[in-house]
Amino acid sequence: MATSRRPSKARASPPEPARINSPPAREVRNTGAHGWGLHNRLSRFLRPDGRTVMLAVDHGYFLGPTSRLEVPRRAVTPLLPYIDSLMCTRGVLRSSVPPESTTPVVLRVSGGPSVVGPTLADEHITTAMKDALRLNCSGVGMSIFVGTAHESQTIRNLGDLVTEGEEAGMPVLAITAVGKELEKRDARYLGLCTRIAAEIGAHVVKTYYCEGFDKVVEGCMAPIVVAGGPKLPEKEALELTYNSVTAGAAGVDMGRNIWQSEHPVAMVQAVRAIVHDDHDVKEAWQLYGELSRD
Ligand code: R5P
Repeated sequence: MATSRRPSKARASPPEPARINSPPAREVRNTGAHGWGLHNRLSRFLRPDGRTVMLAVDHGYFLGPTSRLEVPRRAVTPLLPYIDSLMCTRGVLRSSVPPESTTPVVLRVSGGPSVVGPTLADEHITTAMKDALRLNCSGVGMSIFVGTAHESQTIRNLGDLVTEGEEAGMPVLAITAVGKELEKRDARYLGLCTRIAAEIGAHVVKTYYCEGFDKVVEGCMAPIVVAGGPKLPEKEALELTYNSVTAGAAGVDMGRNIWQSEHPVAMVQAVRAIVHDDHDVKEAWQLYGELSRD
């Protein structure tokens, strides 16, 4: 999807209040056929420009106290003003986000295996739809593990969750997880995973950036957000963000490359400037430098 250039801004724009009656400036795929409630929830984090900056802080559900996320509240609090949604478990939400917060939440609802177990793929739905509704979430997220011994189980989890989500008016984010096998991240495999997720009915699909990513986007009928993956140097993470959105991604659902940055608040604003304000990498890198010195 081509992006139109707008004048660069000195600072990344903070999230605007929801304008659900405004048509998106960019194409937002696969939202119109759903009920008003689901569309309304989706619009809380997929912004009127069709783009989104989601912050992923759900790593503890299988990794335990990940570096820089040992006390989730410390990582999350300074970043809340700059994100379109927070992706986390109910444990992080209840302990680390004030109930007065207006930041939309996409709740991680799958889990089971841990990083020290035999496989990360053996996931189940661990949090009920009624909990997501009670927590006033804007979406729910879960992983599928295509190509593993548990692919069928996790794809069935997705189908069941989409059915419940459509009943409840709750968007479902499907994550094409690779577990420990990061080398799986190529266009052929991710194209297969994202297409399956969209076919099963996911409203948004989260995957990884790869060479030939435009083909992955083309083959997926739902909007795609990109995970950051393991920590990269900041400029490379900005390049990943830029390459993702110029290839047609709706934005990012990024974790470590923001909260493991030396300057997380500067980094999230630089990412935001690419996603929402059409900054290129040079402009965003310059912004990161300026904000890091503040
Ligand atoms: C996905 O399954 C994880 O739980 C994270 O949400 C995802 O990997 C995004 O975080 P990061 O940008 O750190 O890879």
